[in-house]
Amino acid sequence: MASVTIRQVTKSFGETQVLKAFDETIADGEFVTLLGPSGCGKTTMLRIIAGFEHPTSGEVWIDDRMVTGGKTFVPPEKRGIGMVFQSYAVWPHMNVFKNVAYPLTIQKVKPEEISRRVARVLDIVHLSQYAQHLPSQLSGGQQQRIALARALVAEPKLLLLDEPLSNLDAKLRETMRFEIKEIQKKLGITVVYVTHDQTEAMAMSDRIFVINRGVVQQRGTPEEIYDRPANQFVADFLGKVDFFRGEVKAGKIVIPAMGGQALPYAGPLTGRVDVGIRPEQLRFKADGSLWGVLETQYYLGDVDDCRVRVGDALVRVIAPGGKYRKLRNGEEVRLEVRDFMVFPEDGSLDEMLEIRT
Ligand SMILES: Nc1ncnc2c1ncn2[C@@H]1O[C@H](COP(=O)(O)OP(=O)(O)O)[C@@H](O)[C@H]1O
Ligand SMILES: [Mg+2]
Repeated sequence: MASVTIRQVTKSFGETQVLKAFDETIADGEFVTLLGPSGCGKTTMLRIIAGFEHPTSGEVWIDDRMVTGGKTFVPPEKRGIGMVFQSYAVWPHMNVFKNVAYPLTIQKVKPEEISRRVARVLDIVHLSQYAQHLPSQLSGGQQQRIALARALVAEPKLLLLDEPLSNLDAKLRETMRFEIKEIQKKLGITVVYVTHDQTEAMAMSDRIFVINRGVVQQRGTPEEIYDRPANQFVADFLGKVDFFRGEVKAGKIVIPAMGGQALPYAGPLTGRVDVGIRPEQLRFKADGSLWGVLETQYYLGDVDDCRVRVGDALVRVIAPGGKYRKLRNGEEVRLEVRDFMVFPEDGSLDEMLEIRT
């Protein structure tokens, strides 16, 4: 196991600053995900931890050893890490056993020890019966597990995974999430995982670092960042949300786009605010506090995905049990607001989304 400490790391490519003062600690045995949109700097940060990239400034520590910083630079192969990338390269002409054994073969580990260690990791990734198969005889998910086994065979303290599931189909991706998480728990290794997929991050991580434009916006458990997002960007990136401008007045937030309808508010903010409502925070209820007109409803089996016109605003409602509710489009409905999010108005919505008015 290994902890990772990132101290004031910045990275620029030419004029462009890609990482701005990264200052984070990842604990021993922790599964941390760097989550953010494409181009926000996730891969760059991972490559700096791995030693494939030099930061412009700052330090990286693995346990109590500085591996990058000042004049110190420990090369990747001496950092005790395993890595798997999105485009996992398995050698097509080598069978599964030889692919996985490769890192040990080049380290000139004794054949009997190679056999023992390869057998162990193949067992962990459920590929034991395929040891003599060529990669081309295996599915995409199995090939990805070869890459994972090869990263694990050297018994790294730290495993870095860069979008390792993004080339797999949806069903397999879900299975592999679970398997990677199981492997991590079984081996007790530290994992830094990179993805732009919020569901993947939520499902696997002990903690998530949400990144936008080279800055960590929030760090926390999946529950913390989903339920209490630090800002509008995080709320938007983690799940579905409709935003509305509002103004705090006498224990309420008045929302002009909703025809002046208001939400009860007892929080600390005053003046102009941005209100975020997740579709699952709304329920159809006869005595609900908002009223509007049901415009559309799509039956999705487990839930209904609906749009309700509240004043001028179109509000999304994802509600269970529609089969039994029997609402008609055009009907007047009431909505119970079970919860919502409030942020100080800071202009970030303008550039982030088109506000519905
Ligand atoms: N070697 C490089 N030279 C110049 N720009 C780069 C290089 N590597 C990455 N970038 C830029 O840095 C930004 C962050 O890239 P990256 O870390 O790959 O993002 P992510 O993995 O989050 O999609 C992007 O704008 C990308 O174009
Ligand atoms: Mg990337």
